[in-house]
Amino acid sequence: MTDITHRKIDHIALALKSEHQTQALSTFDAVRFEHNALPELALSEIDISTHFLSQKITAPIMIGAMTGGCDKGDIINRHLAEAAEACNIPMAVGSQRAALEKNQNQSIRQHAPNAVILGNLGATQIQQQGIGLAQRAVEAINANALVIHINPLQELVQQGGDRDWQQVLDAIYHCADKLTVPVIVKEVGAGISPSNAQKLEQAGIKWIEVAGRGGTNWASIELARNQLPQEKSIAAPFIDWGMDTVALIPAINKTCPALNLIGSGGVRHGLDVARCIRLGASVSALAQPFLAPALESKEAVIEKITVLQEQLRWAMFLTGSGNLQALRKVPLQTQ
Ligand SMILES: Cc1cc2nc3c(=O)[nH]c(=O)nc-3n(C[C@H](O)[C@H](O)[C@H](O)COP(=O)(O)O)c2cc1C
Repeated sequence: MTDITHRKIDHIALALKSEHQTQALSTFDAVRFEHNALPELALSEIDISTHFLSQKITAPIMIGAMTGGCDKGDIINRHLAEAAEACNIPMAVGSQRAALEKNQNQSIRQHAPNAVILGNLGATQIQQQGIGLAQRAVEAINANALVIHINPLQELVQQGGDRDWQQVLDAIYHCADKLTVPVIVKEVGAGISPSNAQKLEQAGIKWIEVAGRGGTNWASIELARNQLPQEKSIAAPFIDWGMDTVALIPAINKTCPALNLIGSGGVRHGLDVARCIRLGASVSALAQPFLAPALESKEAVIEKITVLQEQLRWAMFLTGSGNLQALRKVPLQTQ
């Protein structure tokens, strides 16, 4: 087993533990919709469908990036892909780095021939190995888009992580310019700031996944894995570093109104999905909440998606929103 495969297995085990979720109260809960006691709608008539990357999807809910393929990763991805296909929602795979390095067959498309499937690589891998790696990631799974993750905090805390981030923006620019599919840039839980978003937009990026602070805490996970006492004591004050998803979505929207946003990082139920949409995201992604159901079965993942969709519908009912366009305009409580 390679180091990367070991690392991904550790990540799955640690991500399941509640101690590695952001410990502060969720800032999503402070986003309160004005209650509409006169919805003038039938719950059954509410339309939660939307378009994503030119494809109609059933709901603005995406399965966030988790695994590209390690031993446990294969079964996780299979359950996620089968459920994404059955429910017609998009799914992002986790980093394909290990699978590409081992020339491993990536079978995700077999399980989701029609769903929107997103590939995934770290920006530093593309910076080090070039755009050819990115094109291989896309082709290996016939991806509808490539997600490039930027995770400098995680890399710092991770023992042996990448610490040379020069020319990363350049590598992203080349991908946006040359790849045959759209490129989405995401963080992993520390968030993308409005000024980062501006730079990415100038580099040709049209989609950003916010992946802000509030959910899975990657500094905490990597700190638990790091064996070096000195590195652990350097990392300790950064455990809570990052910018909250709830603050970032409207802030990026204001700075870069033409950018399309995926709201993620701490989204835990369908009401949070509704909040992301109201704050300005086109789609919302959840990663960790899909992990336990994905370890269980396709049916468990479908059940999770069904609950999320119904919670979104309830939020729309209680705000009198017949569709997502209407939800984007409903009033929020000011205090
Ligand atoms: C087990 C696990 C593995 C992850 N692996 C990746 C990865 O390979 N690539 C990536 O871009 N993000 C990865 N992430 C980060 C998520 O996509 C997401 O941005 C982050 O966890 C915040 O969302 P959450 O609070 O809903 O978990 C992973 C998350 C989890 C829980």
